[in-house]
Amino acid sequence: MLWAVFISKLIFLQPDLMGNQKLNVMEQTVIREMLDERGFIDEPVGPEIKLVEEINRLKKEKNAVILSHYYVESELQDIADFVGDSLGLSQEAAKTKADLIVFVGVHFMAETAKIINPSKKVILPDLKAGCSLADSAPADKFAEFKAQYPDHKVISYINCTAELKTMTDVICTSANALKIVNSFPPEQKLIFAPDKNLGNYINSLTGRDMVLWDGACMVHEKYSLEKIIALMDQYPDAEFIAHPECEKPVLLIANYIGSTTALLNYVEKSPSKKFIVATESGILHQMNKACPNKIFIPAPSIDSTCGCNDCSYMKLNSLQKLYICLKNELPEITLSDEVIQKARIPIFRMLEISK
Ligand code: 13P
Ligand code: SF4
Repeated sequence: MLWAVFISKLIFLQPDLMGNQKLNVMEQTVIREMLDERGFIDEPVGPEIKLVEEINRLKKEKNAVILSHYYVESELQDIADFVGDSLGLSQEAAKTKADLIVFVGVHFMAETAKIINPSKKVILPDLKAGCSLADSAPADKFAEFKAQYPDHKVISYINCTAELKTMTDVICTSANALKIVNSFPPEQKLIFAPDKNLGNYINSLTGRDMVLWDGACMVHEKYSLEKIIALMDQYPDAEFIAHPECEKPVLLIANYIGSTTALLNYVEKSPSKKFIVATESGILHQMNKACPNKIFIPAPSIDSTCGCNDCSYMKLNSLQKLYICLKNELPEITLSDEVIQKARIPIFRMLEISK
């Protein structure tokens, strides 16, 4: 394998692999192949490298900002300049003065940051950090679906590809979905994509009959109703709180439903001391930090041996990959001008409505 030979050369190279003149065309091609296949530059990092120190040094040197989602590992939340949910991270991306944006989350989030900041370089530690919701709605299939409803406007959950955003009237996140839907007059017919669970939940709140794309989050659809009920019996003093990406039967028994940030705010304000939490387990780090005297119990999923309430995509991020990515400024998000120009419109509409 060409990589094996090439890796040895990588060790001796200094930062900015693709930007400098040290690599010839063939070497750049090998790097691209490696990124396509592995999702990151798989270079060795010696034990003498103090990852946190080096990341902070490189960040300063490159005027970079690190934006981390609540679902990544605790150490990646702690090293971030801003940690938040999808809406908070988009808002932060829209106001950053940094030259380089390092998005520690998943691909659609980094793409959104790039669409908001076309002139800035946006990188993420692992290109393979995808999303089951985004994958559930391929642009060509969605175009066929949309064509069946010519008088409908499209609201897309931010968890979708840049291509899908180009076919959307307004983007929403779980934090502002109700507000975005309510910004349309009641008589306006709507398509909601790609999360059917969030769409169903908003339909139930508004009495609307939005047409739903059949997508779901592989983490939030796996919670076990029976096991949650058993936990509620075991801890009768605990409140059960859930993210609206969960399925309807789970939401029906929740004491509180909200986006990741809303759940975090809720546990801080609630007088309860115990919570069963149905969202990705990464948020427990912030909950424990904000409320060290409260107890947070992750809601169990159907198969308790599989760690299904961890998002395997979010968990592809690591301190080592973050270091390598910041050092080499790779992998980088690239999108065509056409996609950026079209996808900007529904994202900026969302940011405007959410002010
Ligand atoms: P929020 O960040 O809007 O809470 O959405 C959760 C999620 O699944 C992100 O991938
Ligand atoms: Fe996608 Fe679900 Fe993972 Fe969020 S938690 S990135 S919606 S798969």
